[in-house]
Parts: sequence; structure tokens; C-alpha cells
Amino acid sequence: MRKIVIAGNWKMYKTQEESAEFLNGFLPTLEDTPSDRDVVLCVPYTDLTVLSQNLHGSRVMVGAQNVHWASEGAFTGEISAKMLTEIGVRYVTVGHSERRQYFGETDDTVNQRLRAAQEAGLTPILCVGESKQERDDGDTENVIFEQLKIGLEEVDQNNLVIAYEPIWAIGTGDTCASEEANRVIGLIRSKLTNQDVPIQYGGSVKPENVDEIMAQPEIDGALVGGASLKPESFARIVNFN
Ligand code: PGA
Repeated sequence: MRKIVIAGNWKMYKTQEESAEFLNGFLPTLEDTPSDRDVVLCVPYTDLTVLSQNLHGSRVMVGAQNVHWASEGAFTGEISAKMLTEIGVRYVTVGHSERRQYFGETDDTVNQRLRAAQEAGLTPILCVGESKQERDDGDTENVIFEQLKIGLEEVDQNNLVIAYEPIWAIGTGDTCASEEANRVIGLIRSKLTNQDVPIQYGGSVKPENVDEIMAQPEIDGALVGGASLKPESFARIVNFN
């Protein structure tokens, strides 16, 4: 049985005060949320403790947005897996396209970060996806297969989530057609040794399209950016039909 995982990705949004306000609005909306789904919030480092303290005993799990591969060392600006697990973090996104695009993340560093996360007991969410140019050139499958091949080397597929996020659909309002997302996610699954790895779709998921996306047979969840910033819209997504 594949697990359903709905994760918010706050990116570089929300101070501690704003994150506490979000929780006040969001937590009461989870009373009737079906138990078949994991709910995760991947937030800026400074918000992790606030969430961890306030989510104790709730069903929402705390996630970070990156993790370094070394257990400690001279890596200014980075954070280790142990520093995250110490404060109750359970999930971490790795290889988000914004990290790849703006911060030089490569498939190789993504792979190292994934393995370090798993060794510390975190569940990594590996993000893959093609650019508009790569899609137009007919390279979608090749790009994603390469990201998976290098990214998943020696990675434990029993403690992993994958997010298919076409770059052209992120933050643009231009969602990938749900049938197409379903098709690509099916192809990703065909490359895995463990068929139970949950595979999310990400890219302009919102209250208006979440039901249709989640109705697709291959799609096991969503990674949600913009629409996870407001309690009411993320609540609607988490409570998809
Ligand atoms: P979006 O972002 O929902 O705002 O498109 C998704 C993501 O970057 O994970």
C-alpha cells in the first residue's frame, strides 16, 4: 500500500510569529482529515522549533528544506541531519529545483544529501523535474531518468518520497495536466525497485485542482508551495476529496 503524503513547502516565507499565526488557523481544520494521509510542513530553519513545539501531539510532521551530507564540519551556512532530528524534524526536501537552479545543487550533491538524511532517520523528499526548454526539446524522460539514476544511487527506497515537479509549473499557476503528471509519475515508478515509494506531484497545486490531481492513480500526494502559506488553502488541499 502506498502512503499519501501532502507536504507544504514554505520556501523563504514566514517569521516565527507568522508561523505561529498560521498554526492557529490551520490546526483546527485537521479534525476531520482522513487518517490515510501524512501531513508535513517544510519550513525555514528558524521556524522549525516553533513548529516542533506547537505540533507536538498533532498529526502534522515537521520538515526542513535542505540538509548537508557531513555530520559536522567547516560548511558555513549549512545544517546537519543531526541538528534537524534533535529538534523533532522528520522530513526534508532534497534537490528542489530552486536549489538546483540558484545554488548549484547537482545530482551528485543531491545523492549525498539523501543518504545523510536517511542515515539520521529523516525521510527525504527527492524533487525531480524538467525545465520548459527540456520539455519542448522532448527531453523530459531523459532528464528525469538521469536525476533518478544518480540521485538514487545507494539510497534506501524504503524510507523515501519522490516529488515530480516540472519546473515550468512551479509558482507559475500553470499546472501540468493531471493526466500528464500521472504519466510521468508512472514512468518514475517504473525506474524504482520499491513500488511502494510515494510519488507526489508539485507545481501550482491549489484548492481548485487538488481533487483532480489526487484522483490520478499514480499520484500519491502533493508538494505545495504558494498555496501552503494560507491556512485555509492548505487545509482545503490536505482535506482533498
Ligand atoms: P508552487 O511551488 O506550489 O508554488 O508551484 C511548488 C514547489 O516549489 O514545491
